[in-house]
Amino acid sequence: MSTTSTISKKSAVADPEQVSETMPKRKKMTVPAFTAAKGGKPLVCLTAYTAHVAHIVDEQADMILVGDSLGMVIHGMPNTLGVTMEHMIMHGQAVMRGAEKALVVVDMPFGSFEESPEVAFRNAARLIKETGCTAVKLEGGREMAPTIRHLTNRGIPVMAHVGLMPQQMNTAGGFKAVREKDQFDEVVKDAQAVEEAGAFSVVVEGVAVRLANKITKSVGIPTIGIGASVECDGQILVFEDMIGLFPRVPTFVKRYGNMEEMMRDAVERYSSEVRARKFPSDDYTYKMKTD
Ligand code: KIV
Repeated sequence: MSTTSTISKKSAVADPEQVSETMPKRKKMTVPAFTAAKGGKPLVCLTAYTAHVAHIVDEQADMILVGDSLGMVIHGMPNTLGVTMEHMIMHGQAVMRGAEKALVVVDMPFGSFEESPEVAFRNAARLIKETGCTAVKLEGGREMAPTIRHLTNRGIPVMAHVGLMPQQMNTAGGFKAVREKDQFDEVVKDAQAVEEAGAFSVVVEGVAVRLANKITKSVGIPTIGIGASVECDGQILVFEDMIGLFPRVPTFVKRYGNMEEMMRDAVERYSSEVRARKFPSDDYTYKMKTD
């Protein structure tokens, strides 16, 4: 591991002059710019939970979500319900140390916003003050509209989340995708209600292609899909799922790498070299200064 404690913001740029000639300079993504991207080039979004991953993702992503899926993919929880404000703040702070250009959004964990708009404001303000993130995300449709209105009226940008809502898994009886035609209108109404309440964008999770198309056409804010087809204004995946570092693979996850295999291989080779006294060899050993 490197002993450098801060993330170099420039490490991705080998020759700044050459890069500026060939690539348009990326500006810091703002909430109004994100909303204005509706219907344009698809928005690229990913989760990140550590500073260095945020630094890597930031090179491409328009938005980085510090999602409560961190409870499952980082902390080994069976679902997201046990995630606390302290988890979100600690990972939010780490991500903010690595991100430079992308819009950083932090999820409101289960139990931190449902009770009342006032409780939601207190917790959302804490996420923003203690992490430095720009916006919060919360799960819920029409029932959360008054809370979204309360937050946005007081300076807190909100990304909403409709369709499959993992925090409602106990009432839904599991992680259930929305695929029945008679459920479609309810989800469209949810998306319209959160837009009307002031949400700047909405995550649409686990819905059939036709419903994703209907929602995207019915709202003026960007729809960010996860398991919601190409019919959305942007896409998001959980980073650990996408790089092959988490064993559960839902239908909608495409693995763009197999990090688990690479890590297992590295641990195996290290172990056998330690056991054979091959590591550390001379190359990895301090010599006396007078040698
Ligand atoms: O927590 C999370 O990772 C999320 C995404 C599934 C959008 O909410």
